[in-house]
Amino acid sequence: MENFTAYNPTKLHFGNGIIKDLGEAAAALGKKALLVYGKGSVMRNGSYADTVAQLKNNHIGIIEYNGIKPNPVVDSVDEAAALGIRENIDMVVAVGGGSVIDSAKIIAVSIAEKAKGWDIMTGKQKPATSVPLIAVLTLAATGTEMNPTAVLQNHETDQKIGFRNPVMFPVHSFLDPGYTKSVPANHTAYGIVDLVAHSLEAWFGQGDAPLSDSFVIAIINEALEVGPLLMKNLENYEYRARIMWAATNALNDVTMHGRISGDWGVHALGHILSYLYDTPHGATLSIFYPAWMRQLAQKNPDRIIKLGKALFDTTTAEETISAFENFFRELGSPVKASEAGIGKEKEEEILSLLNKHNASGVHIRLNDYDRKAIVNMVLQ
Ligand code: NZQ
Ligand code: ZN
Repeated sequence: MENFTAYNPTKLHFGNGIIKDLGEAAAALGKKALLVYGKGSVMRNGSYADTVAQLKNNHIGIIEYNGIKPNPVVDSVDEAAALGIRENIDMVVAVGGGSVIDSAKIIAVSIAEKAKGWDIMTGKQKPATSVPLIAVLTLAATGTEMNPTAVLQNHETDQKIGFRNPVMFPVHSFLDPGYTKSVPANHTAYGIVDLVAHSLEAWFGQGDAPLSDSFVIAIINEALEVGPLLMKNLENYEYRARIMWAATNALNDVTMHGRISGDWGVHALGHILSYLYDTPHGATLSIFYPAWMRQLAQKNPDRIIKLGKALFDTTTAEETISAFENFFRELGSPVKASEAGIGKEKEEEILSLLNKHNASGVHIRLNDYDRKAIVNMVLQ
């Protein structure tokens, strides 16, 4: 096991009707909130009305910024931060999925630091502080509710990148699985893929961490068991709750302690598809993971075989990879680029951006040859 520091200050409130505690939590942080959300789903699942009622009942002023798009862009973050600075807000309250909460993290830091979002994302300006952030999660997928990471796109630099800093943990996160009942089948599936992918990125990372490995296996097993049940019954509270909690734990560091790093190669590949074609994040991962594993299997299949034995009682790398592929397919998430509307003619465009940014894992390095082989597989 490697040395590590475990630190997670987010106070996570979980369960049916748990939003009832938001008002008091917010009142302890200030008197005026910047309320951030996306393109309107929050109006339909009750989370917007409940959050506003909590803030109003506790005499907290509300300034709104909405319209954050999936695969969010830094321009919206800068616009919202400017509004927050102008209005002298005390806290940011984000209601939505990963795109909204990630944007809100950089908005909150930008307000505190009076800095441009991209300067923070690229490490040009190191944040020392943030305006406090409250998150109300409406989609189970990214784990952003209990981690200090944000992922944004910048169309000036042709990038979709992640940034992590301890000041970016939400102070409070409210997770009512009931709000996720309205997530449509496709985004529900992408969320399950994402939580499995986060577990895999830890599994294929660097360093020996047996307990963290066991957490990975437990989380993926939860997804394997509950995922298909949920897909058949999208309104089932218990299934929504189990997937929501699994997604939080897949990326709040419990799978990482004792390792040097995760891998994150498949995320790096996926971000290019999201950037180029606005492909939803989880869909990019179900497309790339099987191909990435097949490429790895040619050099070093050991970790794939070990995981397959634990999860599927398989004995070869290919059987394991096929089992994941079948699972993603069963959920209804694409496993080939064509299923996401990306045809063979895009090969050069995809490869040139992947190579430009040297898209690779931290642990398992990808070269131009690997990237070409993987892209070829997904475009078949
Ligand atoms: O915009 P609205 O109207 O809110 O609609 C959203 C959006 O269209 C909708 N939605 C959200 N909650 C809903 C709902 N629809 C019905 N009912 C609800 N309760 O779902 C669509 C997708 O939302 P989005 O926030 O984009 O999805 P997700 O939570 O999967 O977030 C994806 C983003 O997070 C990043 C991804 O790269 C991507 O940009 N990630 C963030 C990570 C982190 N912070 O740690 C790690 C991940 O690996 C990932 O990279
Ligand atoms: Zn992810």
